[in-house]
This record gives sequence, structure tokens and C-alpha cells, in this order.
Amino acid sequence: MKSLISYFSRKGNNYVGGRIVNLPIGNTEVAATMIQKLTGGDAFRIGTVKEYPPDYQKCTEVARQELRQNARPELSGRVERMEDYGAIFLGYPNWWSTMPMAVYTFLETYDFSGKTILPFCTHEGSGMGPSESDLKKICPNANVLKGLAIVGGSVQKAEKEIAAWIRESGVE
Ligand SMILES: Cc1cc2nc3c(=O)[nH]c(=O)nc-3n(C[C@H](O)[C@H](O)[C@H](O)COP(=O)(O)O)c2cc1C
Repeated sequence: MKSLISYFSRKGNNYVGGRIVNLPIGNTEVAATMIQKLTGGDAFRIGTVKEYPPDYQKCTEVARQELRQNARPELSGRVERMEDYGAIFLGYPNWWSTMPMAVYTFLETYDFSGKTILPFCTHEGSGMGPSESDLKKICPNANVLKGLAIVGGSVQKAEKEIAAWIRESGVE
């Protein structure tokens, strides 16, 4: 069965290595593209109808509100044939220590029973946070494998680490 590389990533201003920089391509998207090339799977970007502000501070406010309200932001697209995939790579930035709420929307849209989920995140110090246990709660019948946390500012150099993680997971 094919693998799906699904990911949420936000380009624009972000906090990297202690300062605000403009990212033309989001850090998680860079990692997702590496995984797509290594596995030959299909990539799917988890996009929202309402886009997040490119300004970092404003975005953190929006994200904090959504987390507080346990919001489920509406997504702009869907995976047509989820049943074709056995392994689902799931990428996201660490937002307020867990997954962005749009990733919760994504996870509640499909039935992941019997599928393998491989979470990976980019972050600026919080690692995976509690996101792996949050993910297991939403997808209790999926086989959630050990996640990979990558420091956002080092993502360009992470290819070897990513390749090793995929190899260890046993997913083709
Ligand atoms: C709204 C928001 C909240 C964030 N919260 C955290 C956090 O709690 N811990 C952390 O380590 N990094 C946090 N970050 C930094 C991002 O996780 C990091 O920059 C990530 O690599 C961004 O990925 P992206 O470019 O794919 O969106 C946050 C960034 C944003 C925009």
C-alpha cells in the first residue's frame, strides 16, 4: 500500500533560533518534501479555508484562541481515497506545545482504524510536547509509531535523521 505524507505548515514570519524570520516555505513542509522524496508516497497539505496571519505575533494569538476554544478550523481540501493508504505520515509545527487545531479537524475527518500513523513535528524547543498522546486519543484504533521532532531552524540538515527514522519504523 502507498504512503501518504499529510502535513500542516505555515509559511511567513516565524520564530526561528530566537528571532523572527520570513520563511518562504514552512519548516514542516521542507521536512514533508524530504519524506515524500524518500518514500515516493503522495503528499497532502492540510490547508484551512481561513488562512493564518503571516505575522508571527498575530498568528500566535489566533492559535491560542483556537486551542482555548478547542476549535475545529474548516479545511480547504480533502484526501480523496484515504483507503488507498496504509501508512500516514502526519507533520505539523508545534503550536502552543501540541498540534494546530486544523490537524485535529483533519484527524476527525477520516477513519484511521488499522492504519499506521507516523507523526513528525518541527518546533523551537518544545519537541513533540504531548502531541503524540493527543493523537492517540483521537485515533485510538490506529497504530501510532514513535514520532520525530526536528528543530525548525535545522530542518534543511535533517534529511539523514529523517531517513533513519523512516528505516527504523519499518514502513517502506
Ligand atoms: C502559533 C505558533 C505557536 C508556536 N508555539 C510553539 C511552542 O509552543 N513550542 C515551540 O517549540 N515552538 C512553537 N512555535 C514555533 C514553531 O513550532 C516552529 O517555528 C515550526 O518550525 C514552524 O513550522 P512551519 O514553518 O512548518 O509552520 C510556534 C509557532 C507558531 C506560529
